[in-house]
Amino acid sequence: MFLQKAWRRAAFSIYGYMHFTKSGLQDHAKKFKSEDMQAQIEGKNCIVTGANSGIGYATAEGLASRGATVYMVCRNKERGEAALSNIQTMTGNPNIFLEVCDLSSVSDIKSFASRFSSKDQPLHILVNNAGLIEHNRVTTSEGLELNFAVNVVGTYAMTELMLPLMEKAAPDARVITVSSGGMYTSPLTNDLQFSEANFDGTLQYSRNKRVQVALTEKWAEMYSNKGIGFYSMHPGWADTPGVTKSLPGFSKALSGKLRTNEEGADTVVWLALQPKEKLVSGAFYFDRAEATKHFPLAGTAGSHAIINSIIDSLRSLCKFAP
Ligand SMILES: NC(=O)c1ccc[n+]([C@@H]2O[C@H](COP(=O)([O-])OP(=O)(O)OC[C@H]3O[C@@H](n4cnc5c(N)ncnc54)[C@H](OP(=O)(O)O)[C@@H]3O)[C@@H](O)[C@H]2O)c1
Repeated sequence: MFLQKAWRRAAFSIYGYMHFTKSGLQDHAKKFKSEDMQAQIEGKNCIVTGANSGIGYATAEGLASRGATVYMVCRNKERGEAALSNIQTMTGNPNIFLEVCDLSSVSDIKSFASRFSSKDQPLHILVNNAGLIEHNRVTTSEGLELNFAVNVVGTYAMTELMLPLMEKAAPDARVITVSSGGMYTSPLTNDLQFSEANFDGTLQYSRNKRVQVALTEKWAEMYSNKGIGFYSMHPGWADTPGVTKSLPGFSKALSGKLRTNEEGADTVVWLALQPKEKLVSGAFYFDRAEATKHFPLAGTAGSHAIINSIIDSLRSLCKFAP
């Protein structure tokens, strides 16, 4: 067990340094095709969560610059308005809207979903990007551990509540969830709210990101007849405001080697633009290609068997009908 944990961490650090940095991207980009990014997506409705900063901002800008109608879901009105105004100026696209919603609150997500669903319009692309690493144990007003609330419950509730609108956009609808390579270090666990005594926010984050990958795999299976594609992805290591704030040591140690926000968003935008036939629903993507969900000998693959019981817990926490 101890050796396996040590192996996962070592493999993540070495593999990450080789592939997740800017030089990793430069290497992988030799295989990129510029025509992949040339599609225009006017008339497609997109939601990007956490769109005021970092990878979410760059994603919203990337979609808006290709003509999409973009709904930026942000928790803070002022930060959201400032980001929206910048994106409008940069892209000249007037079809960008702000939706204020705190993704750590199921009740707020339900209010947003009911407001947004009343527009009764198809939703083509949902990007579950909002996320955080909180190092202290913080409990939300709904009694949830904060990392879990935003990274897992927020992603789960938003996706489930948007499914009816996404079905209206079938067969072209897709859900793109921004996970993290950090998930390679953690198997799936039923201990969703980190009950252990010594809280470790980075470990909790990596567990949350593993849940996103397993959920995506399960959604693809559960909803295979709905015409919706489900993809999880890793942006690589990008120099975002979130990384500077939550991982200052990492950010300093890799100064100059991290990707830009736009480079972090590259595969999200790529997934949004590709013809669905090119993509594999349920798969995990990195640098415009399907990537493994598990390192060899890491002992994480078998853990996905508990995803059904995790979904039961999430349904119950969100008070969704069974
Ligand atoms: N950067 C990387 O190297 C990296 C690597 C792997 C995965 N990721 C993933 O990429 C995604 C974006 O992260 P980032 O690096 O771009 O960080 P970021 O700059 O901190 O952006 C995170 C976004 O999520 C929003 N957010 C956080 N909590 C929220 C809540 N309760 N309700 C609504 N929005 C909330 C933030 O809003 P505020 O501005 O209001 O806080 C912000 O807009 C995350 O899912 C992260 O796990 C990033």
